[in-house]
Amino acid sequence: MVNGNKVKIGVIGAGNIGGVHIEQFSKLSDQCEIIAVTDANQLLAKEKAAQYSIPNVTSTPEQLIQRDDIDAVIIGVPNQFHAPLAIAAIEAGKHVLLEKPMGISGEAARGIVKASESSDRVVMVAHQMRWESVSMQIKEQIDRGELGKIYTAKAGWFRRKGIPGWGTWFTRMDQSGGGPLIDIGVHMLDLALYLMGNPKPVSVFGATYAEFGPNKKGIGTWGKPDWNGIYDVEDLATALIKMEDGSSLSLEVSWAIHMDTDNTPFVHLMGTEGGASYKGATGKLLTEKFDRPIDTVISKPENDEGERIRLSRHFLTCIQEDKQPITSVLSGYTNNLILDAIYESSRTGHEVILNWDMSK
Ligand SMILES: NC(=O)c1ccc[n+]([C@@H]2O[C@H](COP(=O)([O-])OP(=O)(O)OC[C@H]3O[C@@H](n4cnc5c(N)ncnc54)[C@H](O)[C@@H]3O)[C@@H](O)[C@H]2O)c1
Repeated sequence: MVNGNKVKIGVIGAGNIGGVHIEQFSKLSDQCEIIAVTDANQLLAKEKAAQYSIPNVTSTPEQLIQRDDIDAVIIGVPNQFHAPLAIAAIEAGKHVLLEKPMGISGEAARGIVKASESSDRVVMVAHQMRWESVSMQIKEQIDRGELGKIYTAKAGWFRRKGIPGWGTWFTRMDQSGGGPLIDIGVHMLDLALYLMGNPKPVSVFGATYAEFGPNKKGIGTWGKPDWNGIYDVEDLATALIKMEDGSSLSLEVSWAIHMDTDNTPFVHLMGTEGGASYKGATGKLLTEKFDRPIDTVISKPENDEGERIRLSRHFLTCIQEDKQPITSVLSGYTNNLILDAIYESSRTGHEVILNWDMSK
């Protein structure tokens, strides 16, 4: 508890993911209390406040951030607002749980890193896939050394027909920073790097394509389309990321593709002693013994409480016990640097060497 009391929370954004956070944190009422909510759409904020008995609705995020009765802020708004709101919250002395991607760009993410460096607050990025049962079971085996050295990995997520909110902020470069790469690719990148043991990425070669969105094809069910809106992001991205220790990661994601895909996110890890495959709710551990391939199936237990509640609890525990979250600002920044480099590589046609100089 913060000073022996429950963590007092304010939620910025009452849309899809804001609603999910409100639902999850409401379940942890022994550790926290939601004090206020805000959204540019005030009606939505009022609806959530009424549904979850949240006592205050503020007109603006700034008003919420400045409240003395709030310890921690959850930010679930379009990507362009992540950095300005996170920085304002950190500077106001609040702990922050920030939706992915950490920033709309590497530059925006750098601003968050700098603000958090001169603060002792917990700043955590919401990557719930690290908290999924199957990925946690794989991580446990990796930590026991069962895979040996992981020298290469393949991660991705092919959605066959899944463009979200065509024409809304999702498909506008200035508001989202990109298409499936920054939307779902960032989750896969984050999970793969974490399971690989956070090797330092040094170079990137990538390509992106927009073959569906501009023709109003490949439309999915997430978000309501605005047919008068703009679509200027990619709908497929592919990249090879090389690490300082010689290991490599291939990343492929789509919102829309003509491919026989089961729409399941995946990470395949190839180690010297064994391998591991994460495929959402199921996975496999792979090795060779007695001159034969041995596969061990892993799955999510039936009574699993869920990754999002574990993520929420981790945030509160980090605040209460003064610990660093596993999805730190540095991991968020690393993801943003790589995403920027993939887009740049696609634009220029060349390999991009990552620039780790934080002064720029
Ligand atoms: N971790 C996950 O699984 C996951 C899933 C979905 C979305 N997200 C992330 O969450 C964020 C929001 O996505 P979403 O699907 O909830 O979008 P959404 O469009 O459903 O909701 C966004 C909400 O933010 C409000 N808003 C916009 N600008 C605002 C501002 N300046 N101040 C206050 N409110 C503002 C909008 O009115 C809207 O209600 C994005 O960054 C997205 O990448 C994460």
